Formats: sequence, structure tokens, C-alpha cells
Amino acid sequence: MTSNSGRGSLPVDNVQSLASKNLNGIPPRYIREEAESDDLLDNKSLQIPVIDMNQLVVGQIGYQDEMKRLHLACQDWGFFHLINHGILEEIEKMKKVTEEFFKLPLEERMLCAQPPNCSEGYGQAFVLSEDQKLDWGDMLYLLPLPVSHRKMNLWPKTPSSFRPTLDEYSATLKELTNKLISLMAENLKADPQKLTAMFHHDGTQGIRMNYYPPCTQPNKVLGIAPHSDTSALTLIQVNEDIHGLQIKKNQQWVPIKPVPGSIIVNIGDAMEIFSNGKYRSIEHRAVVNNEKERISIAAFHSPNLSTDICPLPELVKDNMFKTVSHQDFIKMVFNKTLDGKGLLDQLKL
Ligand code: OGA
Ligand code: NI
Repeated sequence: MTSNSGRGSLPVDNVQSLASKNLNGIPPRYIREEAESDDLLDNKSLQIPVIDMNQLVVGQIGYQDEMKRLHLACQDWGFFHLINHGILEEIEKMKKVTEEFFKLPLEERMLCAQPPNCSEGYGQAFVLSEDQKLDWGDMLYLLPLPVSHRKMNLWPKTPSSFRPTLDEYSATLKELTNKLISLMAENLKADPQKLTAMFHHDGTQGIRMNYYPPCTQPNKVLGIAPHSDTSALTLIQVNEDIHGLQIKKNQQWVPIKPVPGSIIVNIGDAMEIFSNGKYRSIEHRAVVNNEKERISIAAFHSPNLSTDICPLPELVKDNMFKTVSHQDFIKMVFNKTLDGKGLLDQLKL
């Protein structure tokens, strides 16, 4: 186990197989009372901002305005759609190989199964006890960056284009993330050199491919439990036809309406800490569909492993968070179940 793979998950049933059986009701471990009872705000006009990458080029007439909108999106929402990002082709290719992987027979998918005590591979994440509620979904989690840490034995060999496609996707998303981090550094009035250096030099990236099978009683389960991402910045591609991602806003769950051609960007816990609370990581969850499977691909970006996770010195007036090494931060991530913003609560001063 390498230092950044954390601790693994207890082995549990493959949900795709479970869902394909003629079940006599949903097994109790998947039933979540709150999935049905939580407040849902289906107000079509309340949607996350759309940020246009074409405007975020110095010299563009709309540059200053779009920078302001980006700053507000990070402060008030922690979530936004990014359009005109220039990576549509890579998104499509990655989506296609991921769909193909999840279509393979179980035995073939299991060639990439999570080894014991390892967070990477095909299986489930954050299952730490035998009585814990379970998510209605399977995932393939890989850490493409830093390259030297790659566990190639867990990268699917089928389809044959999977590995080169993920390699390209990883580099493309990393580049886009670096650009966004630079823009955010400018908006935060942080030292852009310092913040971006933490990401440019051996920044880490995890990619989580989620597969949510259909469920006959979709209101009784959750695809992924409420959580904030622990990364600094997450870029997630979701299915444009099958909705499922919801964010918590004013104590209510707001369904995110996909925007064609966008990639969704969200602030994670590490960025909340770097910005000393100015940018907020937002709780989100995924619900499932009763007829169709849903696939999403989340790319989590964090600084390099030798960086401390703490507020940037130039942003600190009242320091809100403890300082932890990146390695200890990762240990904390994998030692807990998904429970909203629980990790940040542990780190608050
Ligand atoms: C995640 C996540 C949401 C979704 O993988 O961290 O929040 O819509 N996924 O799949
Ligand atoms: Ni998430």
C-alpha cells in the first residue's frame, strides 16, 4: 500500500449484480429513511452558476466580470458548471471506456477488484463497519497522479483503450485544474505562485468512476451518501440525461440540472482550509433512477503529498483550522465513513 491510498473498505456485495437479481425488496442495509424524508427543493430557478472558461482569458472583454462571477460561485455555492472548457472530446472518450468497463461480465470487472486495505480498485469506498448503511452503487477508484504512484495492475486492460484514455483524461483534467487554481488564487488574493506550485509539482489526482444501477424503489436508497469532497477541487462529469446529483443549500437538497457540454466543478475540504473558510466545500449526494443506470466520473485534485494542509499564511487573520500534514489528512479521510462535512469539523480550531 502506498502512502496515499489510505485504508481500504470492508468487502460488500456488488450492487450491479444485486440490482440485476429479482429482489424481493431492497436489502435493509441499503434502506435510508432520510432519502425519502429529507426536504427537496425542486425550484427550477435555483441552480448553480454557469462559468464560461472562454471569458476567463486575460484580455477578453468579459474577463473582470467573469472573474467576479467565479469568485462568487466559489464563495456562495461551492459548485458551478464550467462551459467552453475545451475538453469535450476527452470527456466523451472517458465516458465511453467507463461505460464499456461497467458492461463487462462481473469476473472481468473483478480483475480490478480492490485489494484488502487499499482504497484503489473496483468495489466500494468508506465501508468501515459491518452494520453501516451502504450506497446503491459500485465504483472504480484509481490514483493516476502522481504518475510514480500508479497501481497499473488495477487499471482495466479491457477495453484496450481504457488505459491510454484514462492517461490522457488525467493529464487534461490536471491542466484544467491548474488553470482554475491559478484563477482562484488571484481571486483570493493569495500568492498565485505558492498556491499553484503546490498543485503543479506532483499534485495528486484520484479518479472515481461511479456506477449506480437502477433501483426498483429509488426513493429508499442513496447512490452516494451526503458528503463533501476532501480534495481541493473536484471536476465531475455527469450523465446529461439521467439526473442524480444534489447539493445541500439552505438545509434543502437541490437537484443539479446538467448543462450540455459542461463539467461540474466543486470546492473540496482542502480548498476550504487553504482559503481559511472563504471558499466552502458543499455537501452533496447522489440519488438513483428506477429504470436506468447512471454513471458519473469524479476527478479529485489535491496538492502534492509533501504539502501541509492549512490556511495559506497570507489569508489568515483569524486562523480557523489546524495544520496537518497531507499524509495525516489522507489517513483521516479514510478512517471515517461519509458523514457530511465531518472531516472539517475535526480540523476546526
Ligand atoms: C463523488 C460524488 C456524485 C455523483 O463521487 O464524490 O459526489 O453524482 N458523486 O455521482
Ligand atoms: Ni463527491
